[in-house]
This record gives sequence, structure tokens and C-alpha cells, in this order.
Amino acid sequence: PLTRSQFALGFMDPPLPPVSTISVPTVSTTLDWTVNQTALNQHRADIEQFVDAERNISLVRSEVRVGQVMHFDYSEQKYVFPISASLYSLIPEVSPFQNKHYNTCAVVGSGGILSNSYCGNEIDRADFVFRCNFAPIDKYKSHVGSKTNFTTFNPSVLEKYFSNLQTIYDRARFLNELRRLRGAVLWIPAFSFHGSNMVTRTLTDFFLEHERQFNPKLNLAWPGNVMKYFSDFWKTKGLSPKRLSTGMIVYTLATMFCEEVRLYGFWPYSVAPDHTPLSYHYYDKKGTTFTMKWKQAHQLPEEFNLLQHLHKQGVLKLTVAPCS
Ligand code: CDP
Repeated sequence: PLTRSQFALGFMDPPLPPVSTISVPTVSTTLDWTVNQTALNQHRADIEQFVDAERNISLVRSEVRVGQVMHFDYSEQKYVFPISASLYSLIPEVSPFQNKHYNTCAVVGSGGILSNSYCGNEIDRADFVFRCNFAPIDKYKSHVGSKTNFTTFNPSVLEKYFSNLQTIYDRARFLNELRRLRGAVLWIPAFSFHGSNMVTRTLTDFFLEHERQFNPKLNLAWPGNVMKYFSDFWKTKGLSPKRLSTGMIVYTLATMFCEEVRLYGFWPYSVAPDHTPLSYHYYDKKGTTFTMKWKQAHQLPEEFNLLQHLHKQGVLKLTVAPCS
């Protein structure tokens, strides 16, 4: 049989533990929270040792050239993606976050804890709202809000939710979703896995075909091979998963641009603090069983413990209860 480390190297997915083996932390959902400026400044200084947020958020044209061969954060060195003229033309000239600073920011994770939370208004009141993986909001506005200033867009979303843009219906639906994101930053980690090569091509073609229809334009951000910087920082805090979760990376970025960061939808457990059962994502179909698939790459409970610790320190505000 394969050993644990062989599993970790991706030989085979390890068997998933039963949901009941993950214990739910005890959280206080009522305590007042105030920012601790000293601790927050220290936390930012610690991050800055590893992450240059303004630069790491996206490649800029002056750093790359057409034909340059890119590698991937999580694939073997033999896998490559040469930068095409089309992709080059979609890379921003300057960082989409150059000199940006916001007062209050909401980082919206996709946990089922947001269902029936009525946190939508509170989230939308933030000056800047970060979301993950193009998560749907239309049907869930009262719980997750509708304002979106930044969303991550793993190219695999195209495969999973838009059938690789193969039909006129998928194309129209995708265009419609993109139109609603005009002015927002779309953060596309195209150089994480080689598996996204084909979808990245489909995506760049689609952007170029419809470019003129976006006014204000879409702000595309294409991070280079930067995942290591984030992992190295969190390693200093005792966290070293195979891959950090998207939410953790977004939170790290938000801390560098925002005075105050509030987190919603971060709760990787199958029941709420009051023990009502939850779906994994707030947008999962009714009756979907809580997935433990993340176990293959992430350490979500360990991430949550760290976030909870930072909440207690006054560095970030974690919301895990309905908003009043
Ligand atoms: O790309 P990834 O699988 O990391 O994320 P996702 O499933 O699209 O969810 C977005 C983020 O929300 C995750 O990266 C987690 O940080 C957070 N999340 C959580 O804390 N608890 C859940 N039950 C689901 C997601």
C-alpha cells in the first residue's frame, strides 16, 4: 500500500475521514470586537517579509514577453504555458492595486454558514468586497450581499460551471455574469496547475472577443508563480498544507490593502455553532452532502484556528453567526 507521504505527493487521493472525526470549535458569537492596531501593524509587517501584495497580485506587461514560457506553482517543471500575444494583451500595464487603500473590506468565503445568515446588507456596506471563485450571488443576495469588487476566478470554473463555453447558452450566461463584474478585479490564477492550460486559452479568446462590450472594463489580474510567498508566510504561523485555500490567500491580500478586514463564510464544518447541519458551500444544491474533498489539499480547520486566533487578537473580524 502507498504511504501517507506518497499520498501527499499525489500518487493517490487518501481516503476521506468521516465528517464526524472533525470536531467543531467552540466559538463565541456574541463578544464585542475591537481592532488592535498594534497587533494588526505587526501582522502586516510579518506578511510583508514574504508577500509584496501590490506586485504579487498580478503580473504586469513589463515583467513578461510574448513567447515567455511560464511554469506552474503546483505542477512538475516539465509542464509549460508560453505567453501568447492574446494573453499578453490582457495582462495589465500596472498593478490593479497600485496605490489602492480601503477603509473597511469584507472577504466572503463560500461556507454554508452564510445560508440564512442575513449578512448581505452588512457585507455590502463594506467599502470593498472580495469574493472567491466566481461564487454565485444572485439567488443568495440577502445572505451574501451583491457588491463585488474582486473575485478569484480559477480557470477550472469554466469547465465546472460553463461547460467550457461550448454552447451559445453557456457563452451567453458567462457573458452576463461578466457584465455584472464590470469594474471589478477578476483574479485568474492561470499558472497554478497545468491542467488549466486549455481553459485559459478558451478564456483569453472569450475576453478578447467581447472586450469592447465591457464598459467600464474588466480589470484582469494574472498572478505569476507567487503561491510560494503566501505559503512561506503561513508556514511561519505553523500552517503548511499542500495548498492554502483560496480564502486564505484572498484574506492575506486584503490585509495589505484594507484598514479593517471582516471575514464571512469561513467555517469548514458540517454543523453551525448551534449544531444545525450545513452544506459545504452556501450555494450547494439542497440535499448535497457536506464534502470533505478539501482534505486532499487543504487544512481548513487549521486555517480556521489561525483565523480565530487573529480574531481574538483584534487583527481581523470573523463572523460566524447570523447578522442582525
Ligand atoms: O478554491 P477553494 O477550494 O479553496 O475554495 P471554495 O470551495 O471556492 O471556497 C472559498 C473559500 O471559502 C475557501 O478557500 C475557504 O477559505 C472558505 N470556506 C470555508 O472556510 N468553509 C467552507 N465550508 C467552505 C469554504
